[in-house]
Amino acid sequence: MLQIDIVSVQPQMFRGFLEESIVARAVKKGAVRLNIVDLREFGEGRWRKVDDKPYGGGPGMLMKCGPWFAAVEKCGVRSAECGVDADAAHQASRTTRQPRVVMTDPKGRKFSQKDAEELAGEEHIVFMCGHYEGFDARIETLATDRFSVGDFVMTGGELAAAAMVDSIVRLLPGVLGGGAAATASESFGRTGLLEAPQYTHPPEFRGMKVPEVLLSGDHAKIESWKRAAATELTAKRRPDLLKKP
Ligand SMILES: C[S@@+](CC[C@H](N)C(=O)[O-])C[C@H]1O[C@@H](n2cnc3c(N)ncnc32)[C@H](O)[C@@H]1O
Repeated sequence: MLQIDIVSVQPQMFRGFLEESIVARAVKKGAVRLNIVDLREFGEGRWRKVDDKPYGGGPGMLMKCGPWFAAVEKCGVRSAECGVDADAAHQASRTTRQPRVVMTDPKGRKFSQKDAEELAGEEHIVFMCGHYEGFDARIETLATDRFSVGDFVMTGGELAAAAMVDSIVRLLPGVLGGGAAATASESFGRTGLLEAPQYTHPPEFRGMKVPEVLLSGDHAKIESWKRAAATELTAKRRPDLLKKP
């Protein structure tokens, strides 16, 4: 079973996520074990300090190394095997069966469906949620992957981690009704295209009609319409997806 640890200084932000989502159902079904780790428990001194002023000046506070190394090591990560280069650490984790350690980071690589699929095949993932002005750069050596959820800056990594965890957990066997078929034709999936437009009852709403082919019952024709519609939509909205790498 996939084990996911999420380390955060605001663990209460995951309350709704753990109680009210597909992820909550997946936990109940035994598809995933989700453990929220309060970074503050590894904080230093009487006030359980997890942040401090940056060397060289600058606005805000940075997250300190001590609490992060202690918390991530408590999750079963042997930090000595990680490197400053997240790509090397990624490779090391694949050969040594170390957990994948995902740092949420606007400076990281943009997270994609491919990454969700790859992580869904892992046994253990640790998510690191930053806060304040971010991490002391040495904390990066813990990470096997640094992922951004888009070119914008949020206050903390909790929503980024929740988004990634949701996209991973829904791919686990038995989580979505309909199994693999439920995700087969989805955007960014096997076809590499956006999903074709979809319709439900009624067949006509305020003058807008469902394409006739979808009401025909002819499955071959429907499949071919869906492929053409998906390609057309992708060309219109995300032409970058049609370019060969
Ligand atoms: C205020 S941000 C720090 C931004 C940092 N000073 C910079 O300019 O790159 C605090 C934390 O929120 C998380 N975060 C913010 N935006 C994110 C994004 N687009 N993707 C992933 N994590 C993000 C990261 O964990 C980050 O360390």
